[in-house]
Amino acid sequence: MRRLISPLLLAAVLGTAAFFISTRPEAYSALRGDHALEPTRARDVENGKTLFNAGGCASCHAAPDDESRTKLSGGKPLVTPFGIFNPPNISSDTKDGIGQWTEAQFIRAMREGVSPEGKHYYPAFPYTSYRGLSPDDVADLFAYLKTLPAAEGKAPVHDLAFPYSIRQGVGLWKLLYLSGTVIAPDAKQSLEWNQGHYLVETAGHCAECHSPRNALGAIIADKRFSGGPNPEGKGRAPNLTQDTTGLASWSEDDIVTLLKDGFTPDYDSVGGSMSEVVRNTASLSDQDRQAMAIYLKSLAPIAGEARAPK
Ligand code: HEC
Ligand code: HEC
Repeated sequence: MRRLISPLLLAAVLGTAAFFISTRPEAYSALRGDHALEPTRARDVENGKTLFNAGGCASCHAAPDDESRTKLSGGKPLVTPFGIFNPPNISSDTKDGIGQWTEAQFIRAMREGVSPEGKHYYPAFPYTSYRGLSPDDVADLFAYLKTLPAAEGKAPVHDLAFPYSIRQGVGLWKLLYLSGTVIAPDAKQSLEWNQGHYLVETAGHCAECHSPRNALGAIIADKRFSGGPNPEGKGRAPNLTQDTTGLASWSEDDIVTLLKDGFTPDYDSVGGSMSEVVRNTASLSDQDRQAMAIYLKSLAPIAGEARAPK
């Protein structure tokens, strides 16, 4: 018996050690590169405000009863297949919020998904998209957050099912699904297309809702933008590609109108979580909305689920 147990025990100990070593944030950075780069220019608070709106930070972090959407003491719970996430206080409160954070710590959180204590964040915080924001844009966003009021109160701890409750397991998830490359400009495309690509893929995090995910909650790469379940439970976030189940029949202007007023071409208005998104995109410039439409109209068709009849 003893001869049998010790190799098993040894394997278990080695396996556990391998898990803890390979899932540390340092392991990810060593393998895939460190993306927490330094900003290169002076801070621009106005640009930070635009990114705050484009990024929909208030949708998750603003107190649910706060009409101004600037009291960032923690938002309503996110119910997911893995359990319940409670978006934390990201106000400038020094005790309950992120008032003590340095800019470098904020950039690391947004671009690497790593906390000041060196722990992984769960991708329910869509740093999977925000990581593509330039370090300058992230620094501007941080400067803007600092202008918002400090708000007291801590969000409850997440309520996750095992094994998702083991935070370090996110390290494994990152190794499997978080690419080492962040989005870069495409010289073959127009300036507008590049601006749209940047806004949709980073701050806008549109793919986070509009894509199907695998059992571990990662976006299925070759089905990106082909539609996904509505995170609020009912209905779907439709296909945004040029498929017939997607936006093939929509003009650029139709998309711009939706992002500005929330109206679809058949004079319906979008509901649920998309109406939250429209509150954000409505505050962008016409030029930004146009750029997003140009990018979306360039998405190759990917078949998605047929729409539910109205
Ligand atoms: C879809 C919901 C969602 C959106 C949108 C979102 N976040 Fe979060 N955020 C979360 C969740 C959930 C966490 C907690 C992650 C964890 O515990 O691992 C979090 C964590 C954070 C943290 C870490 C706070 C801490 O105390 O460690 C920061 C900073 C943050 N978010 C900033 C932002 C900013 C800035 C934006 C907008 C650009 C944003 N978030 C948009 C859900 C969201
Ligand atoms: C929090 C999840 C979520 C995010 C993030 C999100 N969407 Fe949506 N979107 C939805 C849902 C859900 C619907 C369906 C709303 C309805 O049927 O009333 C929708 C509908 C749409 C529609 C209408 C499509 C149609 O065929 O009716 C467009 C266009 C759209 N979204 C574009 C975007 C863009 C662009 C972004 C990024 C800026 C984005 N969405 C981000 C959830 C989301």
